[in-house]
Amino acid sequence: MTNRMVRVGILGVGSYVPEKVLTNKDLEAMVDTSDQWITTRTGIKERRIAAVNEAASDLGVKAGVKALKDAAVAPEEIDLIIVATSTPDMYFPSTACIIQDRLNCVNAGAFDLAAGCTGFLYALVVAEQFVRTGSARYVLVIGSEVLSRILNWEDRTTCVLFGDGAGAVVMGPVPGEGGVLASYLASEGSGAHLLTLPCSGSRVPFGAEAPVNHRAFISMQGKEVFKFAVRVMEEATEKVLAKAGLDKEDIHLVVPHQANIRIIEHYSKKMNLPMERIMTNVDKYGNTSAASVPLALEEALQQGRIKSGDNVLLIGFGAGLTWGAAVIKWV
Ligand code: COA
Repeated sequence: MTNRMVRVGILGVGSYVPEKVLTNKDLEAMVDTSDQWITTRTGIKERRIAAVNEAASDLGVKAGVKALKDAAVAPEEIDLIIVATSTPDMYFPSTACIIQDRLNCVNAGAFDLAAGCTGFLYALVVAEQFVRTGSARYVLVIGSEVLSRILNWEDRTTCVLFGDGAGAVVMGPVPGEGGVLASYLASEGSGAHLLTLPCSGSRVPFGAEAPVNHRAFISMQGKEVFKFAVRVMEEATEKVLAKAGLDKEDIHLVVPHQANIRIIEHYSKKMNLPMERIMTNVDKYGNTSAASVPLALEEALQQGRIKSGDNVLLIGFGAGLTWGAAVIKWV
């Protein structure tokens, strides 16, 4: 099968966020912080927190149902489910298998994919390969996170930044010249230590009895991650545009990973791309990791900011370190 025989696009989008809203004001009562600090340093005003009985699969199922409906694809037509998450229900079975059962996708293979906050981009690119080669016709890609479970709610340097949510897309063949025009994935394991979930695997296993500094909480060197993010957003844009043979003026909307408004503003300035051409909703959800790009994408579509024929640039970056981008001509 030669490249580009089948054009692959996004046929439907869906998202779900838990009902509970945690505002900056609420956080003021929990840690030594202020609405003003969080707003000026991150742009975040509030985030969603999953209910005690909600896990990544519960959020993912709700987003998946909406994406299937939006794509008008039946569950049994899905050949593959890829769930990008850093907060699976458990190590095994995969969250993708749990979702496969709940959605009645009786003909689908299913696996989880771990690439930190770049997980959705990685999963989208993997899905594209399956459809393009004819191995699969329809692939359900879900980013779902319950990050509130792995936050140390006594650590003000991390707990104010993240939130819970899920976003999903159905990928499949598209007619004409639309769909994914180019993609780019990258990694830099030398920076692995900058953003980790220690004590969560075979290096140091989970342990309910462990002292707080040995528990599975997000650990991050914020300043270093900030510099990394700014560097790779720019690099990913240049790489993927070159692969697509496009100029940045050809991009109608950028949908970047929503980690911090200052990272996005920095990018806007460096790339000379006005903020009007960049989707942001970090103020409402904080950083939802693998869910953030599809959550922002769905909102952009609802706001009528993406029309048929538009070139949309998706960018992700996160733990690994990993980063990536894809340019999609909307059908
Ligand atoms: N409320 C109030 N003060 C806080 C605070 C909070 N929630 N968190 C940190 N501070 C304090 C620090 O203790 C520090 O105090 P000090 O000067 O007395 O030591 C001060 O604020 C400045 O902290 P600093 O870490 O220099 O702030 P910053 O401008 O670098 O912003 C981040 C911190 C985390 C917001 C920023 O580094 C960031 O966004 N990094 C990227 C994170 C990210 O996107 N991660 C996910 C990638 S996928």
